[in-house]
Amino acid sequence: MAQINPSILSADFARLAEEARAVEGADWLHVDVMDNHFVPNLTIGLPVVESLRKATDTPLDCHLMIEDPDRWAPAYAEAGAGSVTFHAEAAAAPVRLAREIRAKGARASLALRPATPIEPYEDLLPELDMVLIMTVEPGFGGQAFLDIMLPKIRRTRQLIDRHGLALWLQVDGGVSAATIERCAEAGADVFVAGSAVYGAEDPAAAVGALRDRAER
Ligand code: DX5
Ligand code: ZN
Repeated sequence: MAQINPSILSADFARLAEEARAVEGADWLHVDVMDNHFVPNLTIGLPVVESLRKATDTPLDCHLMIEDPDRWAPAYAEAGAGSVTFHAEAAAAPVRLAREIRAKGARASLALRPATPIEPYEDLLPELDMVLIMTVEPGFGGQAFLDIMLPKIRRTRQLIDRHGLALWLQVDGGVSAATIERCAEAGADVFVAGSAVYGAEDPAAAVGALRDRAER
C-alpha cells in the first residue's frame, strides 16, 4: 500500500491547522524542520510541531534538516511526532539516536542527501523504521525531481529486502503525478509531496490521485 505524506512546507503557514485538516485522509503529514545551517532555509520548530499535533489526527512525519540532530531529534518524538527523520550527514551517533527516538515511542528514520550513498549505512538498517532518499537537494519545495536518484532507490530497496527487513522507503522532492510511478517502480512505498498536493485546487483529491498512480 502506497503512503502519501503531504508536505506542510507548501501550505499557507498563517493557516496551518486548516491546511493540515485539508489533507485528512493522507497517511502522514510531512513536517519539514530547517535550521538555516544544515540547509539554507528556516522553517518551523518544536512549538509548531506541538501545536500541529493538537490540530490534526493525521500522524506527524517530522523531517529534520538540522545540524546536531543528536541533541534535538528525541524532543520531536516527545512533541508528538510519530516518525522522526534525521540526516545521515548531520548525525554524530546515528545508532544511539535511532534507539533514543524509538525509546520515545516514535519511528526512527535516516535521510540521505542526493550525494550520500546508502551502502555505508547497510549495517544500521535493523535499527531503523524508514530510509528517506532525497530526490532534490533539501531546503526548498517546488524543485525538479532528480531522476538520477532512481538507481539509489532501487539499491536501497534491494538492501532492505536482502536483509528481510520491514523498513519503509520514502522519497521526498519533486514527487508528482509525473514522477511518482517511477519512484514506486524503483521500490519506494512512502511518498512526500508538497507542491503537488498544496498547489492543487483540491489537496485531498490530489492525495488520492497520487496514491492511485503509485499503486498502478
Ligand atoms: C525539501 C523538503 C520537501 C519539500 C518537498 O527540502 O524536504 O519535503 O517540501 O516539496 P515538493 O514536493 O514541492 O518538492
Ligand atoms: Zn521533507
